[in-house]
Amino acid sequence: MSVRRLAAEQPDGFQFNPENRKWADAQLKKYPAGREQSAVLPLLWRAQEQCDGWLPEPAIRHVAEFLNMPYIRVYEVATFYTMFNLEPVGKYLVQVCKTTPCWLRGSDELERVCFEEIGSPESISSDGNFTWRQVECLGACVNAPIVQINADFHEDLNSQSFRALLSKLRAGETVTAGSHVGRHASEPVEIEKSANANEKSANEEQETLQFKKPE
Ligand code: FES
Repeated sequence: MSVRRLAAEQPDGFQFNPENRKWADAQLKKYPAGREQSAVLPLLWRAQEQCDGWLPEPAIRHVAEFLNMPYIRVYEVATFYTMFNLEPVGKYLVQVCKTTPCWLRGSDELERVCFEEIGSPESISSDGNFTWRQVECLGACVNAPIVQINADFHEDLNSQSFRALLSKLRAGETVTAGSHVGRHASEPVEIEKSANANEKSANEEQETLQFKKPE
């Protein structure tokens, strides 16, 4: 398990913006009276979103005050869950799955692309666009190898398609999440090939029958 510390440089303060404050007030109503502190995870997550993908110390403190919780308890939550980024990250957070199915399907190649295109893990690329890290199973092994970029899964990648994907993001182009080999959901990759093969063999059979008919 990695050591997770707060960033050395922190902003002066944090407040939910009016929209998020309204949203946070509404979250509290989801919980029974006296159990509002159960909203700590979604509130920290919203604070992270408001801070461009990372969770500064003043935001942790603000959530603690908002929920009337001891600061240390919110600090424990923020430093325990790796979905909370304690340091600033790039515009796109690239999470490369390195667990066995993705590894067997080429995640080493994707990691190499990250080193070449972005730099060392957890650093922000020089253009501010990317931060990348290695993660464990993202729960979509059937479409391995998988890379999560912000909230989206990109599937069935190889080094070429992954490099092209990063280029598009860098250029500000819209990208489509999901399979990068064009398959629907997790259907077998061979389905089109099999369908074509079946069609071909049916046609050949038909031709043979037609040829035999005159006899
Ligand atoms: S091993 Fe990569 S998604 Fe499961």
